[in-house]
Amino acid sequence: MASLEAGLPVKQVDAMIKRETDRYIQSNPISQKLGIEARRNWVKGVPHHWMLDWSTPFPLFVADAVGATLTDVDGHTYDDFCLGDTGSMFGHSPAPVARAIAAQAGHGLTYMLPTEDIIAVGTALERMFGLPFWQVTTTATDANRFVLRWCRAITRRPKILVFHGAYHGAVDDTFVRLKDGQPIHRPGLIGQVYDLTTQTKVVEFNDVPALAAALRDRDVACVITEPALTNIGMVLPQPGFLDDLQRLCRETETLLVIDETHTISTGYGGYTRTHGLKPDFLTLGKPVAGGLPTAVFGCSAEMAERMRAAEAEAGPGYSGMGTTLSANALQFKAMRANLEEVMTPAAYDHMLPLSEKLARGIEQEIRQRNIPWHVSNVGARAEFVCAPERPRNGSEAQAAMHGPVELAVHLYLLNRGLLIAPFHNMTLVSPATSEAQVARLVTTIGQCLDELAA
Ligand SMILES: Cc1ncc(COP(=O)(O)O)c(C=O)c1O
Repeated sequence: MASLEAGLPVKQVDAMIKRETDRYIQSNPISQKLGIEARRNWVKGVPHHWMLDWSTPFPLFVADAVGATLTDVDGHTYDDFCLGDTGSMFGHSPAPVARAIAAQAGHGLTYMLPTEDIIAVGTALERMFGLPFWQVTTTATDANRFVLRWCRAITRRPKILVFHGAYHGAVDDTFVRLKDGQPIHRPGLIGQVYDLTTQTKVVEFNDVPALAAALRDRDVACVITEPALTNIGMVLPQPGFLDDLQRLCRETETLLVIDETHTISTGYGGYTRTHGLKPDFLTLGKPVAGGLPTAVFGCSAEMAERMRAAEAEAGPGYSGMGTTLSANALQFKAMRANLEEVMTPAAYDHMLPLSEKLARGIEQEIRQRNIPWHVSNVGARAEFVCAPERPRNGSEAQAAMHGPVELAVHLYLLNRGLLIAPFHNMTLVSPATSEAQVARLVTTIGQCLDELAA
């Protein structure tokens, strides 16, 4: 009997990788040439190592991107369902954001002083998330890092808790995972000399007894989580889990930090607003300023008061929070245009049904061929997972990852002008994404599966 990977013959998967790699090389001579030249000055040939995480043998060099369409230097166009892994979730260069950036460009970019726009942006953030107080950072990583620091200062507790398989940016404290039930450093972590497991607890998502046990000692300052895990495939909360999480946090006076950076796909105001969560802190990066490096963190009035008290107690000096370029004038122009004109309820009215259509379309292609996979979606974010059952936690989600199958599918799609995220099998639908683009992705996934399952 043929050996199978994720229900598909390994031989077919390997053959597709070989064939599609050759096709990519043949079709992209300019990207290949630039890739070789780039090795002269860039470590591993790229300015940022994630650019190597695509399925291609050398990076695809981009010439242009507008809306949900991207063009490469060899002249191919792509329907973009990756959208910069969420940074451009509301489309590449949304017109109001592009106009706002152009208007500000000649008037100073960063002053370390506020502009009038902070009033409108504060109002928009409160309207969107229901939290009154906000701060701005340059990345979601920084927003999460600073929030963890605030939580420790406020509670005077040393530890934090993450769920196995979570990702919250390059935040050292969060790089703890489970192996055989024990906390370990996330495999591959570089240059970490502190034992992060002494201050970070880790339990499986959806595991209420383990969470209760971990919070029982009241030494955890905060739980930081996405409301659905989106960085290890997709793990949805089981019914009641987020209620239990909120209840356990309340009972043990542990703060709750909801990272909406990816789950902002859920709907206007993210998962938090859509499902009525009540976090102490909320963080959001990536698309908040339309793709310009910007992130925000918000908190309740009670937290703001406790932050003031913690700061007063620490006394004069430097809090260790804040970076020079954060909250600059350009970010605020972009964020204002994005929040007021792009990330609107009307935008979600387009994105959500279309993403649902995409998810159900892919599901049908999978079912018709009896392939043991499934599709999950959180609003405008959908993910096909190479396993029959929805994973309940990070371990199950990890077991559902099949590198070679993903590589084959991603390459096949890319060679046919379709980009999905290079990490697992994630798709995003933007306000600019069309029905035709969705139909093409669904059909092409079906054709890909036909070839793989043949
Ligand atoms: C949920 C979540 N939070 C935070 C981040 C970090 O974002 P950034 O890399 O922009 O700092 C990511 C990045 O993928 C993320 O998925």
